[in-house]
Amino acid sequence: MGQYEKFEFDVLVVGAGGAGLRAAIEAAASGVSVGLICKSLLGKAHTVMAEGGMAAAIGNVDDRDNWQVHFADTMRGGQYLNNHRMAQLHAQEAPDRVRELEEWGAIFDRTRDGRILQRNFGGHKFPRLAHVGDRTGLELIRTLQDHGIHQGIEVHMEHTVSSLIKDGDRVVGALAYDRERGRFKLFSAKAVILATGGTGRAFKITSNSWEYTGDGHSLAYNAGADLIDMECIQFHPTGMVWPLSVRGILVTEGVRGEGGILRNSEGRRFMFDDIPDLYKHQTADNVEEGWRYTQGDKEARRPPELLTRDHVARCIMREVRDGRGSPHGGVYLDIAWIKERMANAEEHIRRKLPSMYHQFKQLANVDITAEAMEVGPTTHYTMGGIKVDAESQMSAVPGLFACGECAAGLHGANRLGGNSLSDLVVFGKRAGEYAARFAAENGHGGIDDSLVEELSRQALAPLERESGEQPYAIQAELQEHMQDLVGIVRREDEMLRALEIITGLKERADNASVPGNREYNPGWHTAVDLQSLLTVSQAIALSAIERKESRGGHFRDDYPDKDPGHFAKVNVRVRKGADGNMEVDQLPIPPIPGDLQQIIDTESR
Ligand code: FUM
Repeated sequence: MGQYEKFEFDVLVVGAGGAGLRAAIEAAASGVSVGLICKSLLGKAHTVMAEGGMAAAIGNVDDRDNWQVHFADTMRGGQYLNNHRMAQLHAQEAPDRVRELEEWGAIFDRTRDGRILQRNFGGHKFPRLAHVGDRTGLELIRTLQDHGIHQGIEVHMEHTVSSLIKDGDRVVGALAYDRERGRFKLFSAKAVILATGGTGRAFKITSNSWEYTGDGHSLAYNAGADLIDMECIQFHPTGMVWPLSVRGILVTEGVRGEGGILRNSEGRRFMFDDIPDLYKHQTADNVEEGWRYTQGDKEARRPPELLTRDHVARCIMREVRDGRGSPHGGVYLDIAWIKERMANAEEHIRRKLPSMYHQFKQLANVDITAEAMEVGPTTHYTMGGIKVDAESQMSAVPGLFACGECAAGLHGANRLGGNSLSDLVVFGKRAGEYAARFAAENGHGGIDDSLVEELSRQALAPLERESGEQPYAIQAELQEHMQDLVGIVRREDEMLRALEIITGLKERADNASVPGNREYNPGWHTAVDLQSLLTVSQAIALSAIERKESRGGHFRDDYPDKDPGHFAKVNVRVRKGADGNMEVDQLPIPPIPGDLQQIIDTESR
């Protein structure tokens, strides 16, 4: 200890998925110095798991689409917990961000007349997802990376930020360590942007890879920022269920967008059984109409497989619970059936869903052009996160900004598929712009060396203890309990138990011990990540107990209905109290201005 390298930037971006990269590009373009820290290798981010496309009302496939319809769809999908201003900005700015990506080299699939092709996705009224087969997130990252490396951004790969540093109320830097050598680096910055993604690793079955331990959520919480909507977790309806070693890996919604249907073990399309009132007017009630919609018939209504993710996931759970599931606890997703309707179906499937074709062939020995896939819900996305200002993305802590999945507001109680990629670039750009502005108006803060010493000592503590449990076991227990007790279907008694368990796990984590030294030591990384996982797990459980209703990604068996009264009008907030304990309360949702309400009313008819 005692020795750490020091770096100084105007703007420091933590996280290099789509949001972090876009923020870094924008900040650099305004002439400030930018440092970019990523936990993994540059380009490895959950962004690539948004496979099926990027939502933007360009109207290339259906010219009735416009930002107003996209705004209304996003609000309805989020069941009105959304920040209406963020939903408006997102819908208005997404088309420009798609065109910008194209200018920077993204190669989207094309319409017959050469424009960007858009596909159907759940909850979107019109075909709206600009896509690159089923590898859209990958193309977005590739494009931003290629563009970003020419902007003079200094990248620090394979680093974990263990603490944010404050000077008074303001965030003025971050302490990080290099995961290979275990050496600390102190980053002084006039503004810090968190773009660390979600919290999926708090659960056992997830599409998220090892990096997604809620680091940004936890760093912001500890720095004094508010977290909102943490109860709203998205369980994507279709993850792989078999073989067990790949359970949770995403099966893109693009499969359903291309006409894939869900069946139970009796061969029945169970999604026709339960169509929510909110979507009745938009949803087909028979097979023929659903198919016509898939084929571009503008008079037809959407097939029920394209209802919102929260609803589809619950319908799948119901089939499994009632004994109509597949052998490995899922249901069947069938795209091969389109052969009955389409001459060149096999080629079409391989062209539009190349990753899915290879994924199932290689991992499950299933040929999706001939057989149905077995799928079930997987933890995919955290709607909740750091509360930010809609325009600037600054949190309640001066100098601390957040964008992408770790920020909250845009998606409300449930995110529509494809709205994540557009979120990343719309609000990544805004965060970069406003952080650069903040940096231009504020100097570097003072950083107390003794505080840095203390923070590094805390991070190293698991390596110093002579005895204690290994952190892996604690992490595995946490994931198991979060899945069982705070998962897709929740009850108060179970969540109270989860909170007790989390308290016990925290004590054990505080006494965990890791053998070896700090070089190349994954056990130590797990011990550090575990602290973030425990913080976000507690926030999720507390918030889920507080919201006594079911809405979007938050479903309670003991309150199965949506509350049209009180809970329709509040966001649940979590913050660190003066005594250091986690506090939960409710914040009134600001009223929607008349012009936006009118758009919602018109579009609901
Ligand atoms: O299913 C998918 O391709 C995921 C997209 C998303 O989460 O936005």
